[in-house]
Amino acid sequence: MIEVHSLTKRYGHKTAVDDVTFTVAPGIVTGFLGPNGAGKSTTMRMIVGLDRPTQGSVTVNGKPYSAHRSPLTEVGALLDAKAVHTGRSAYNHLRAMAATHGIPVSRVHEVIEMTGLTSVAKKRVGGFSLGMGQRLGIAVALLGNPKTLILDEPVNGLDPEGVMWVRQLVRSLANEGRTVFLSSHLMSEMAMTADHIVVIGRGTILADAPVSEILAAASGNGVRVRSPQAAQLAELITPSGAQVTSSEPGLLYVNGSSAVQIGELAASAGLVLHELTTVESTLEDAYMELTADSVEYHSTPTHPAPAPAPARPSTTAIGGK
Ligand SMILES: Nc1ncnc2c1ncn2[C@@H]1O[C@H](COP(=O)(O)OP(=O)(O)OP(=O)(O)O)[C@@H](O)[C@H]1O
Ligand SMILES: [Mg+2]
Repeated sequence: MIEVHSLTKRYGHKTAVDDVTFTVAPGIVTGFLGPNGAGKSTTMRMIVGLDRPTQGSVTVNGKPYSAHRSPLTEVGALLDAKAVHTGRSAYNHLRAMAATHGIPVSRVHEVIEMTGLTSVAKKRVGGFSLGMGQRLGIAVALLGNPKTLILDEPVNGLDPEGVMWVRQLVRSLANEGRTVFLSSHLMSEMAMTADHIVVIGRGTILADAPVSEILAAASGNGVRVRSPQAAQLAELITPSGAQVTSSEPGLLYVNGSSAVQIGELAASAGLVLHELTTVESTLEDAYMELTADSVEYHSTPTHPAPAPAPARPSTTAIGGK
């Protein structure tokens, strides 16, 4: 378990992490999301004692990282896959780490095989591709067979097979009861991998909840209805308290009522439906909504942006609350 308590980190005038409190529980995969510069890596570095908090504290399995007698067997971390001596082979890098932590060489062979590095293990790390470097970083994190894994953007640079492998790996580590905390910018991947999500923006926590709750809270969930009698249908739906909006004639978007309820209501009034679709927000939708005010580094579209066609278009309220 990782317990982060009122953690703050300032670099000069810049507050990278601002009074952050959350817990990463064992037995599940916790995803750490946030825009560029939000404070994810800084928080992770403070967890493993690589950055000193300006204020606050953090413990891993009840103690500060540095208080553990054998930290590698307690916490495995991938924070910067490039932080490897480029002149050494992957095998020698892992062997040196194992030797200084009382880890048998057999474990080095095990993690090399697990991470798919067998054919390149004796090659200089300097010649590694981005993905091979990431795999080596993950091998280092796994070396001590730790109870807690902290992985900063582990799938960055991995090929599709590697991405799927990381997903299965972290899920199986969590199923064994370990604590798994990983960051990523790949929302669809995170939706498939994580059970719980912590979202950070400009150094503060924007959300800390199970994935299901984050998805349920997104405003894009609802029902899309097409009917030649849309206005009549809207009048029937609004007394229930559901919110009905419309962006074009014949199309309704209903928030707060299910497709079943709307279908029944339409049938009882003899109204024709051309479409009745349950629309569910993706993690990307929910994330965009949560972080809308926290993005520091905005991109400019290189081409005129096409007209957006979101699940829930800009709308005119027809009724409801
Ligand atoms: N060593 C440092 N010195 C000065 N400022 C730093 C340092 N490390 C991080 N920062 C600043 O702290 C803020 C948070 O950075 P951090 O690397 O934690 O963000 P992040 O969420 O990991 O972003 P990304 O998604 O781009 O990896 C940024 O504004 C960054 O410039
Ligand atoms: Mg980072």
